[in-house]
Amino acid sequence: MAQIGVERAGDADVVAQITRRAFDRRNGEEVEMIARIRAAPKFILALPKFILALSLVAEVGGRPVGHLLISRDKLRLEGGQPTDQEGLMLGPISVLPDAQRRGVGSRLMRRGLDTAASRPELVVVLIGHPEYYPRFGFRPAREFGLHPDWDAAMVYPLWPDLSAYRELHLPEQSVCRCNAWRKPLQADHSQPL
Ligand SMILES: CC(C)(COP(=O)(O)OP(=O)(O)OC[C@H]1O[C@@H](n2cnc3c(N)ncnc32)[C@H](O)[C@@H]1OP(=O)(O)O)[C@@H](O)C(=O)NCCC(=O)NCCS
Repeated sequence: MAQIGVERAGDADVVAQITRRAFDRRNGEEVEMIARIRAAPKFILALPKFILALSLVAEVGGRPVGHLLISRDKLRLEGGQPTDQEGLMLGPISVLPDAQRRGVGSRLMRRGLDTAASRPELVVVLIGHPEYYPRFGFRPAREFGLHPDWDAAMVYPLWPDLSAYRELHLPEQSVCRCNAWRKPLQADHSQPL
């Protein structure tokens, strides 16, 4: 069974490799997204986007096979301007092709959401496969009055009253960068690690 733990010092390269292999993209869009979140500037009045406790690595028999990042970001106005309302943004989540469909992704999701529940933010948001995330409790953003009005835009409430978020838009990065939901989930067992 996969063991889930917080990313350790020196794991950044392994995380990048897992992400690149899982998404099978030459442009490494999701790898860049993680790097950008890690490097986001820390201002005096703004908390960092990267939260170490929410960068989770899954290992099977000591071999790293999966990664989930949940980071902090600001909800936006329609024009893209950031608001003071912060939320947690889930993604990317990656499992190596030859380790998929054995429950690793589900364990990462459950540990990530359990950890998120003990934090001050009120909401976890994502843009992702509409058929994958509802099983973990995600619901369409539109049900909470958030945008965009896409099936792939989803919200996991950590607090019963999300009225402070009504009419806000999911963070720019989740919309612009995590486009993997557009292609179907596909298992590829042809590339052992
Ligand atoms: C999405 C992902 C993280 C799921 O990880 P996983 O370890 O395979 O997930 P689980 O084993 O917990 O799978 C649970 C269910 O998800 C679906 N699923 C997961 N991987 C799938 C795949 N490769 N093909 C089709 N369905 C898949 C299935 O419904 C599966 O249940 P089933 O095996 O009973 O049919 C993994 O497939 C992945 O890394 N994909 C490429 C990157 C990606 O698309 N990330 C999400 C971006 S929004």
